[in-house]
Amino acid sequence: MRIVQITIASAFLCAGAAAAQGATTTTAAASPTSWRSIPTLPSDVNRGRKLLANLEDPNAKDAQKICPGYTAINVRNCPGGLSARLVLAGANCNVYGTDIDQLDLRVSFGPESRLNVRILPAEIPEGQESWYDTKEDYLTRTVKGVHFNPTDSELDFRLNSSPFEFSVVRKSTDDVLFSTKGSKLVFENQFLEFRTELPERYNLYGLGEVMHSIRLGNTYNRTLYATDVNDPLDENLYGSHPFYYEHRYATLKDGSRKGYAHGVYLRNLHGQDILLREKSLTWRTIGGMVDLTFYSGPTPAEVIADHVRAVGLPAMQQYWTLGFHQCRWGYHNVSDLKDVVEAYRDFNIPLEAIWSDIDYMDQYRDWTNDPVTYGLKTFSAFLDKIHADGQHFVPIFDAAIYVPNPNNASDAYPYYDAGLAADAYLKNPDGSLYVGAVWPGFTVFPDWSSPGTQDWWTDSFQKWYKEVAYDGIWLDMNEVSSFCVGSCGSKNITQNPVHPPFSLPGERGNLILDYPEGFNNTNATEAAGVAAEIETRNSANAAKAASAGPSPTSMPFVSQVLPGVDVRAINYPPYAIDHVQNGHDLAVHAVSPNATHSDGSLEYDMHSLWGHLEIGATYKSLLKVFPGKRPFVISRSTVPGTGAWAGHWGGDNASKWLYMALSIPQALSFSMFGIPMFGVDTCGFNGNTDMELCARWMQLSAFFPFYRNHNVLSAISQEAYRWAAVADASRTAMAIRYTLLPYMYTLFHHAHTTGATVMRALSWEYPNDESLAEIDRQFMLGPAIMVAPVLDQGANYTNATFPGGENERWYDWYTHEARNASEGKLVDLKAPLGHIPVFIRGGNILALQHPAYTTAESRKNPWDVLVALDSEGDAYGDLYLDDGESLVQEKTAFITLEATNSLLNVSRKGQWTSTETLSSVTILGVPKKPNQITFGKAKLGKWSWRENSQTLEVTGLEGVTKGGAWSKEWELSWK
Ligand code: NOJ
Repeated sequence: MRIVQITIASAFLCAGAAAAQGATTTTAAASPTSWRSIPTLPSDVNRGRKLLANLEDPNAKDAQKICPGYTAINVRNCPGGLSARLVLAGANCNVYGTDIDQLDLRVSFGPESRLNVRILPAEIPEGQESWYDTKEDYLTRTVKGVHFNPTDSELDFRLNSSPFEFSVVRKSTDDVLFSTKGSKLVFENQFLEFRTELPERYNLYGLGEVMHSIRLGNTYNRTLYATDVNDPLDENLYGSHPFYYEHRYATLKDGSRKGYAHGVYLRNLHGQDILLREKSLTWRTIGGMVDLTFYSGPTPAEVIADHVRAVGLPAMQQYWTLGFHQCRWGYHNVSDLKDVVEAYRDFNIPLEAIWSDIDYMDQYRDWTNDPVTYGLKTFSAFLDKIHADGQHFVPIFDAAIYVPNPNNASDAYPYYDAGLAADAYLKNPDGSLYVGAVWPGFTVFPDWSSPGTQDWWTDSFQKWYKEVAYDGIWLDMNEVSSFCVGSCGSKNITQNPVHPPFSLPGERGNLILDYPEGFNNTNATEAAGVAAEIETRNSANAAKAASAGPSPTSMPFVSQVLPGVDVRAINYPPYAIDHVQNGHDLAVHAVSPNATHSDGSLEYDMHSLWGHLEIGATYKSLLKVFPGKRPFVISRSTVPGTGAWAGHWGGDNASKWLYMALSIPQALSFSMFGIPMFGVDTCGFNGNTDMELCARWMQLSAFFPFYRNHNVLSAISQEAYRWAAVADASRTAMAIRYTLLPYMYTLFHHAHTTGATVMRALSWEYPNDESLAEIDRQFMLGPAIMVAPVLDQGANYTNATFPGGENERWYDWYTHEARNASEGKLVDLKAPLGHIPVFIRGGNILALQHPAYTTAESRKNPWDVLVALDSEGDAYGDLYLDDGESLVQEKTAFITLEATNSLLNVSRKGQWTSTETLSSVTILGVPKKPNQITFGKAKLGKWSWRENSQTLEVTGLEGVTKGGAWSKEWELSWK
C-alpha cells in the first residue's frame, strides 16, 4: 500500500515536520392508477432506516470514557509555528470507527490575527486522501504559505504533551479562548471528537445553517449536514458553516466594560454534531481532520471580516439585483408572468425582476421550457418586453438531470445524452450510473470532479440562453436532494415516474389550509372553517400512515464496522448524527453517501459540498454566457466561501410571524458566513399569508440585501398589490430602499473588498455593550441605518433599544427628529401598519438617489445628501460608483464625504463620471439657524432651517453641480 502525505500548498512551514517515531436499489412499484397513468414512486422509497441518533441514545458509548487520547512527542518549534507527532496513548478504542494510531499536529501562526491548528493522520494510504482532507479547489484554506512570527501574534498556542491537550490564549488579556484540557482527542476514520472548555453563560454565534435566534443556547445541539427540508427550527438545513464566534465582556481597571470576540472555524464539512453545554463545546464529525482556524478579533466585526477574507470575499453584485424580485411556484404560463409584471406596473409598485419556478420547464427537465404553457414564441416576446422596460428574468434550475426512458424514442433528452457522453454523472460503487428521483422522475446528478462536467454544463447554459434570455440563475435542490433512498432508478429506468412520492401542495391530501398565527383574530369565520378542514385532513392522514406499515428494509448497504482503517461503513456510519431527515438516515431525501465520483471520492466525504461545486460550475458558465459581467446566482445550499460566487435565500420558511422574526438572525448569520446577498421568502413560503403579515414583511425585507417575495404552489396569491395595505406599505418601504441603493451598493463594495458586513447585528457595531448580546429583533444596515420592525401580529407599536452611550444620536428617518441612546432600555415606538421604524445613526453621511420604478431609472436620477451630525457636529460617509455590472471595471470612483465645523467636504478618487446632478443637502442636528450657506464660493439662496427638528435643508443645487454631483470635489458650508 502506498502512503501519501497530504500536501497543503506550503501552508505549513515546519520543514520535515515531526518524523515518525519510528449499489443499492429500491423497488419503485408501478401504480397503474397514478397521475397521467405513468408510475408514481411509492412514498416508502424515501423512508430509510430508523436509526437512533447518538445524541438521543442514552446507551451510546461515550468516547471520552472509553478512548485513550494521545501523547505528543517530537514537539518542534519552527518558523511560523510548531509541529509534533501524536501517538495513541493506550489500546485502540475503535469507538465509532477505527483509531488512527499516529497523527501529525501542525500549528501555524498568521497571517496577522489567525492561528491554524491541524491534526491529521501521519500517514494516509493512497485513495483515502478525500476521507480526511478537502481539496483547496473545493474549499479554500484559511492559511496559505504564510510565514508569520508567532511572537507577533495576539494568540498563543500552549501544548501539554501527556496527555495531549492544547489551548489557545489571547496574549493581551491572558484569556483562555479554547482549551481541550480535561478531555481527550478521539481521531478515527469515521469519527472525530474534541472538546473545549467555555466560560459560564458564554455568548456564542454562528454554527449554521439553522433557524434560531442569533445567540445560541448554552445547552443546545447543532447538527450540520446539507439537506432539503422545510426550515424546521434548530435542525440542520441546506448549508453547512462550521464557524462560530464567541463574545466575552470584561471589566477594565477604570470600571468600564469592554467586549472581546474571537472566532473558531473548523474546515471540515463532514456530517457533524456540535454539543453546546453549560461550560463546554464538543465537536463530533463523522470524518475529515481537525483543521481549526482561530481569529483573534478582538471585535466581532474584525473576527467576521477575517473569517470572510479567509474563506473567500463575497462577489460584487450587479446593481439591478438589489431591486425588488417577485417569484412564486405556480405561475402556470407566460400569461401569469405577464399579468404579474403588468399589475405591479399598474399599482406603481417597483418590480425589478420576475422569477419562474419549475412551472416553466418541460416536464421539470433542466434547460427546457414547456412547449405549450411556456412556448418559446410567447416566452421570448415576454422576455424582450421586460428587458426593454429595464426589468429582468431569473428562472429556477434544479440540481438533478432527467434520465429519459431508454425504451421510448420520443422521450429523447439531448442534454442528458451530452452529459452522459461527457461522463458527467455520479456513479454507484459498481460503476453504474447512480439514478435517484426528483421532480422530473428518475434522475442522475452531476459529478463535479469529472473532467468533462464543466464543459457540458457551460455548453448547456449557453445553448439554453439562446432560447430563454435569463439574467441570472436560481439554484435549487442542490443539497443534493433525491426523493428516494439509494439508486432507486437503476433497475426501474423504463418505469419512469412523473410524480414525486408525495403529494404536491394543493393536491388531494395536501391542501394549503394554514394561515399565520393570530389569523383567526381578524378573520374568525374563515379560520374556523380552516381549522375544521385541517382536523379532518389530519385524521385521514394519520389513518393512511398507520395502514402503510413499517419502513422497508431492502437497502443492502454495508452497515457494520469492519476492522482496519481501509473499510468504512458508508451509508450507516457507526456514529449517527442527529440528522433531521426521517430516521436520521443520511440517504433519506438525498443522494446517498455511497455515490461515487470520478476521482474515487465518495459523497460521504463530499456531501455538503455538492451545492457549492454546482454554484462554481454555474458561475463559470455564466461568465461564458455574459462575458465580462458579474454572474448573478442565488443558491439554496452553501458552505464557507460560497459568497464569492452566489447569494442565498433562506429556503422554505412559512407564512408565520415567527418565521418573519427569525429571518433577521438568519440574515445576520449569513453576514457572518460571508454571504451578504441574503433574503428570505417574503410574506412566507409554506402556508397562506395574510394582509397584515405580508405588509409587515414586505417592509422588513426591503432592508435585506436580497429582496424577493416567493410563495408555494397553490397558496393564496401574495404579490404586493393583492391588498391595498400591502401595496401602500411596499411602496413606502421600497421608496426608502431605492433611495438607499447607492449606500447598499457601497456596502457591497466594502464587503467585496474587505469582508465587512452589509446587514449587521447591533452588537457588532457596539462591541462593548453587553445589553446587545441577544438583540436580533432590530438590526443595522451598514454603520448608518438601524431598522426596528414590528414583528408581532396585531401590534401597532414596537420597542427598540438605541445603543451608543450618552453622546450617541439617532435620527428618525421620516421626521428627522433626534433621540439619544436609551442606555440598554427598550423604548416604545409607534408603528401602525404601513410604518417601519428606521433611524439614522449620528455621525454618518448618506449619498441618496431619487427612487424610480427600476434600478436603471433610479441610477439616472438626481442625488441628495443626508448629513446626520453626531454630538460633536461631525459626520462621515462614502460612496462607491461604477458601471453596475462589469466584473472588471475600467473606471470606478470613490467619493468621501466629511462634515466638521459646519463644513461638508466632498472629495473623490477614480475616473468614473456620471452626469446626474445634486438636488439637495439636508443636515440633521444643526442647533442654530445659520446666517449664510455657501457652495464653494457661491452663496446659496434656497434653504430652510426647522427649529423643532434642528434640520437644515439646502435645495436647488442642480445649477452648481451641472456636470454631475460627483464629477468635481466640492464644499458646502453653513455658518
Ligand atoms: C424548493 C424550493 O426551496 C422552493 O423555493 C421552490 O419553490 C420549490 N423547491 C419548487 O421548485
